[in-house]
Formats: sequence, C-alpha cells, structure tokens
Amino acid sequence: MRAFSPIVINGMRLRNRFVRSATAEGLAAPDGSVTDRLEAAMKALAVGGVGLVISGHAYVEKRGQAGIGQMGVHKPEMEAGVARLARRVHAHGGRFVVQLAHAGCRADPALSGEPAVGPSSPDNADAAACQAMTAEDLARLEAAFAAAASLCRDAGADGVQIHAAHGYGISQFLSPRTNRRQGAYGGSLENRARLLLEVVGSIRSLVGRDYPLLVKINSEDFLDGGLTAAESRRIVTWLEAAGVDAVELSGGTLDSGKLSPIRPGRFPIPEGEAWYREAAQSLKAAGLGLPLALVGGLRSLETAEELLASGTADLLALSRPLIREPGLVARWQAGDRRPSACVSDNLCFVPLRRGEGVSCLTEARQRRPAAAGGGEEAQEACE
Ligand SMILES: Cc1cc2nc3c(=O)[nH]c(=O)nc-3n(C[C@H](O)[C@H](O)[C@H](O)COP(=O)(O)O)c2cc1C
Repeated sequence: MRAFSPIVINGMRLRNRFVRSATAEGLAAPDGSVTDRLEAAMKALAVGGVGLVISGHAYVEKRGQAGIGQMGVHKPEMEAGVARLARRVHAHGGRFVVQLAHAGCRADPALSGEPAVGPSSPDNADAAACQAMTAEDLARLEAAFAAAASLCRDAGADGVQIHAAHGYGISQFLSPRTNRRQGAYGGSLENRARLLLEVVGSIRSLVGRDYPLLVKINSEDFLDGGLTAAESRRIVTWLEAAGVDAVELSGGTLDSGKLSPIRPGRFPIPEGEAWYREAAQSLKAAGLGLPLALVGGLRSLETAEELLASGTADLLALSRPLIREPGLVARWQAGDRRPSACVSDNLCFVPLRRGEGVSCLTEARQRRPAAAGGGEEAQEACE
C-alpha cells in the first residue's frame, strides 16, 4: 500500500505517509518545559506507527503563549526537553518535528505575563487586548523563530514546522481581516506574506539549507474578508520558491464557525473526509513540486490510500483520531482496516482547557462510563 511506503523530505526519511498533525497536548510544565507525561504521549504515537510526529504548537517567545501546559522553545534551557522527545520518538522508528508558533493576538496575557501583540489592534471592544507590533517587535519575533529552530536542530529534532494557520500569529498577518496595518507588513498580499517569508529566511540563515522546514497554512480562512483560496495558492508558490520543504494544508480559524479547523460532528466516510481536497488538487494542478500533507477530517485508510493514489496528497495528517487511538496507524498496518472511532465531538478540549492535558473523554466514557466524568459541563465547554 502506498500509505505504508517511505518518503524522504530534505533528507528526513519517514517510514510511512502518516503524520500526527500538531496537537496541543497541554502536558508541559508551567515554565514550558517537557514533562514525563509529554514524553510518554510522544512515545505512544511513535509506538503506534506514526511516521512523522509533529509536536503541539510550541511558543517561540513567551508573549506568544496561547494555552495552559503549552511547550516552550523560547530559551536555551528548553533544549534538553526537546532532545528527550526526539530520542523517544526515534527509539520507536518515528521522526520528530517541532511546530514553532506565536499566538499573536490570541496569546493569553494571564499566562505570558505580557500584553498580546499582533498585526494590528482589532477595531472592536477587544482593541485594548492586542497591540500592533512595532518594527522592533517584528525583528524580535523573526529572531525568536530562528533561535527556536536552531535549538530544535541542536536537540536532535528532525525538523521544524512554522504554524501559519488557524488564525494564530502569522495567520493573522496573512489575513486582511485581522491585518489592518499600513506599510511593509500590511495591505497587499506580498506585504501580508512578508512576515512569513522573512521567518522562513531567518530560520534558513541559522539552520542552513539541509534542515527540514515545513509550513502549515490555511487553504483559505472561510471568513468574509479573510485569506482567500487564490491568495493561499500564491503564498504556497512563494514558500516553494523560498526553499520550504513541505506544506501541510489546513483551513479556517477559530472564528469560522462550522468551517473551523476542528469541524465538529461525524463525517460520512468517504464523502465527508479530506475537507481541503480540492485546494490540494488545485495546487498540484498548478505544478506544486513540494510534498503536500493534507489534514482535516481524515478517518479511513481507504481515503488515505485514494488521496495518495490520485496524487492529491503525499502525506496524510491526523489529529483527533490519534488523541482517541494513538495506535491507529499500527492497527491499520496490522490489517484491521476499520476507520477511526473518533466522533469529532471536540470533548478532547475539555481536559485540555482544565489544565489536565488533552485526552478523549468519549473513549474514556465508553470504556468506564462511571469514572470518566465531564457530562454536561463538558458539553457546555465545547459549544
Ligand atoms: C486538541 C487539539 C489541539 C490542537 N492543537 C493544534 C496545534 O497546536 N497546532 C495546529 O496547527 N493545529 C492544532 N490542532 C488542529 C489539528 O492539527 C487539525 O488541523 C484539526 O484537528 C483537523 O484534523 P482532524 O480532523 O484530524 O482532527 C488541534 C486540534 C485539536 C483537536
């Protein structure tokens, strides 16, 4: 099967085409450092057969922290923890990439201890909650991404992925809805994409051409005045020209309602799977040469195989199915082809927001109905 054939991305050999899409685990210590539980979670994914494990979004500077228990790669002291994760994944045949992130206006000042900064202040009641980045802030952010990438390389991680999706920091710059700046970083698409491309350049200048560098980006924002599909395609061609090694295609922001990056509900198999299939096909038809990972609603091996066979995608990325069942890929490979049992109810966010670490409440309830808890409170938290 194609899904279990290897692929090489800028020297990084993956044993199969399955990627654990970046998923906030909420398992880091309050200072952002790696814990035994986070290490165990990465091990479970590698043991479970995932070819490429991408970490949850890790903040490159403290004021870009989005959530409780988020991992940090913002200072040299974090290197030892990243090394632990890389060693653990390698020991079980997987490859390990760290997702580098800055939450921009979605940062949480209560966690970071600093005001949030982003492309521009929102022109609503939240205006005071986010300040426009100065030229100095932008230089600081670019340097922070590069330093974090260098830390990951020195720690033995196989590569890094820039988080440019879902309405977080860099994605806020790409979208005209959230980027109201004048000047070099706002206005035209070239200007809105400038920060992302400069981050790519600053990372390359520190880690060199041989270190795998990936980008996760929205195929579109699905919002009035947001990033459009045509704009996203142009940015991806610029990323290819800038020497990025692979692109993961997602879509939507936390404001996109039913078209958010974590669409809720059961998706019929196969017609409800692979939400960004057409966007991927357009990129391939336009001659994209980079390996393309597709995330969003993938639940069956048959669809994974069909996406590879049709040349729509080169890699298949999963998030919620692997929260429910970290061993899903190994199960499929062993011949049990039943689709993921994930019902996409997003109850996995409930323990995450409580600071207990991400987990599948639905699976726990089915296993031990009395012990799992969550109940109505869980339902409320996801609405
Ligand atoms: C609990 C949770 C945490 C997530 N954290 C991240 C993250 O840190 N970075 C990111 O790019 N996407 C994150 N995502 C989005 C997923 O990577 C993925 O794009 C989305 O869930 C759709 O894929 P799925 O249908 O396989 O879950 C998260 C999703 C969930 C459910």
